[in-house]
Amino acid sequence: MVDKKQLSTNIPKHVAIIMDGNGRWAKKKGLFRAIGHENGTKAVREAVESSAEIGIKHLTLYAFSTENWNRPKLEVDTLMKLLVNSLKKEIKTLQKNNIRLNAIGNLNSLPKKAREELLEVIEKTKANDHMTLTLALSYGSREELIKTIEEISIKVKNGVISPHLINETVINEHLYTKNLPDVDLLIRTSGEQRVSNFLLWQIAYAELYFTEVLWPDFKKSDLIEAIYNYQKRERRFGKTSEQLS
Ligand code: IPE
Ligand code: IPE
Ligand code: MG
Repeated sequence: MVDKKQLSTNIPKHVAIIMDGNGRWAKKKGLFRAIGHENGTKAVREAVESSAEIGIKHLTLYAFSTENWNRPKLEVDTLMKLLVNSLKKEIKTLQKNNIRLNAIGNLNSLPKKAREELLEVIEKTKANDHMTLTLALSYGSREELIKTIEEISIKVKNGVISPHLINETVINEHLYTKNLPDVDLLIRTSGEQRVSNFLLWQIAYAELYFTEVLWPDFKKSDLIEAIYNYQKRERRFGKTSEQLS
């Protein structure tokens, strides 16, 4: 049960999750990694529905990184197949909960079938406005920054923008995340304490939360625990504590 009182105020507007630990979850049980990924998709559904219920406006999930292309081909193929199946299956969940699907990353590098399915669900859910679910697919923060610098450089060269007018807003407008607010809370499961090339610019002032729970075991109660933990923190943005009160 969601504690309505504690969860009625100070809900992070943008939660991003590095969903890690599918492989170790499977290994612990003596199963193939693919089974870990399959169970990971169940945890995705629970996290999405719980976030919508709690009132998080933006949920961003790291599903596949630019570096993940370096995994064995069989595992990459499995992950792409799971993506297609999940999109087909979960469109119902998205519509039922009034959730808009969004995607960030180098989507052109995805297999055609996955890209088409993704674009179809994005199109079908574009009018939903309760929550935005963003999937980071073939996403890498450095790739995103390189793309951003390239696009801005071309505009400078063509005289569309002058160099001294480049500011945070201009950069934000060229990122994959252009329509999203900054991340308030970044969660990583599985005990690893690193950001693995995820939203480096966008997490500049995010609160970081690490849990030992492996992604397939991540439940609504774990999400609520992360939010309670977030609510106890004082976000000072460079100011002193006295200035805030
Ligand atoms: C996260 O689980 C899923 C992806 C990165 C696609 P992992 O597959 O990284 O699981 P571990 O880290 O090997 O346990
Ligand atoms: C990060 O997990 C990427 C995703 C969760 C999609 P990894 O398991 O690939 O991260 P590293 O390589 O261990 O840092
Ligand atoms: Mg991992």
